[in-house]
Amino acid sequence: MRFFGFLLCVALVGFYYATTPSMRAESITLAPDPQNGEYIYFAAGCGGCHTAPNAKEDAKKTLSGGQTFPSPFGTFVAPNVSMHVDYGIGAWSQDDFVRALRQGISPDGRHYYPAFPYTSYQGMSDQDVVDLWSYWQTLPSSEEKSQVHDLSVYAKWRRPLGIWKMMFQSAPDPQMLDAELARGEYLVNTLGHCGECHTARNVFGARSSKNIFMGAQHPNGKGRIPAIAGDKFDWIAADIAEYLKSGFTPDYDVAGGLMAEVIENTSQLSDQDRMAIANYLKVLAN
Ligand code: HEC
Ligand code: HEC
Repeated sequence: MRFFGFLLCVALVGFYYATTPSMRAESITLAPDPQNGEYIYFAAGCGGCHTAPNAKEDAKKTLSGGQTFPSPFGTFVAPNVSMHVDYGIGAWSQDDFVRALRQGISPDGRHYYPAFPYTSYQGMSDQDVVDLWSYWQTLPSSEEKSQVHDLSVYAKWRRPLGIWKMMFQSAPDPQMLDAELARGEYLVNTLGHCGECHTARNVFGARSSKNIFMGAQHPNGKGRIPAIAGDKFDWIAADIAEYLKSGFTPDYDVAGGLMAEVIENTSQLSDQDRMAIANYLKVLAN
């Protein structure tokens, strides 16, 4: 009996340490370039999740939150991340912003759910996060109150996410790529977070490390998201780049659903960057 008590204590202490967020400093002193920040805003698709549901025109830059994301763990609601001091993140420092994005930890030391794709954003360069923050501060503020996520009981507690992060938040292996492919890799895996939808997930909601980009169940449970790599995906690089610009498929179909929103962002990128994305996906296909 006493031995089990001892084991339980060890387990609890272990759990405590494993799940306590270790807040690494993120002090970056680089001169910000808000114009590049705007570009990163589109490349990373922040507005795609944080604007109001069905936002149009000017509202496309108001980060009031409110879009819902169904998942097997319940429904997440994107929060207000505008610069409003009370309802958004207007009181945050640059360090707070960078830590949220790259470590998935809030200023008050809580883990974020990976529905916020920080597992992709963790590789963002110092310059890009600083630029993004300087652009963020120019965006309108919103008085919309953030809504509470509607999660199943066992997913409500954030602490166990510490263990999730230990298991699944590994940085991707550095790859030997030439400059254009390395840019494509960064745009696809880090900024564009394409795998968040196109790679299947395991029972813990983490992206599988196998069958990357080979398609996945739609997060709303209905239908499948197509593969964008592998032998069966036979688009040439120019087809992919065109699709990311105009939404037209090689058979003159038009992108729908979640991808139409993604293309609202990729259409803002340079032709060169869209080609870099396409060429990187084709390298994976071989
Ligand atoms: C796939 C949808 C999605 C995308 C894309 C996304 N977010 Fe979020 N974000 C969320 C969700 C959901 C949460 C809530 C996470 C939680 O409560 O743990 C969140 C939380 C946040 C928070 C924390 C807000 C707070 O009040 O603590 C910040 C800051 C943030 N996101 C910024 C960004 C930035 C910057 C980008 C682009 C680089 C971005 N998000 C892209 C879904 C998204
Ligand atoms: C929010 C989820 C989501 C994200 C993120 C996402 N996609 Fe998609 N993608 C989809 C869906 C859904 C479709 C199917 C669209 C349709 O049926 O019209 C799709 C379709 C595609 C197709 C067409 C494949 C085919 O055979 O029809 C390509 C190419 C593609 N995506 C590339 C990308 C790239 C590159 C990125 C990253 C920059 C990306 N996607 C990010 C959801 C997503």
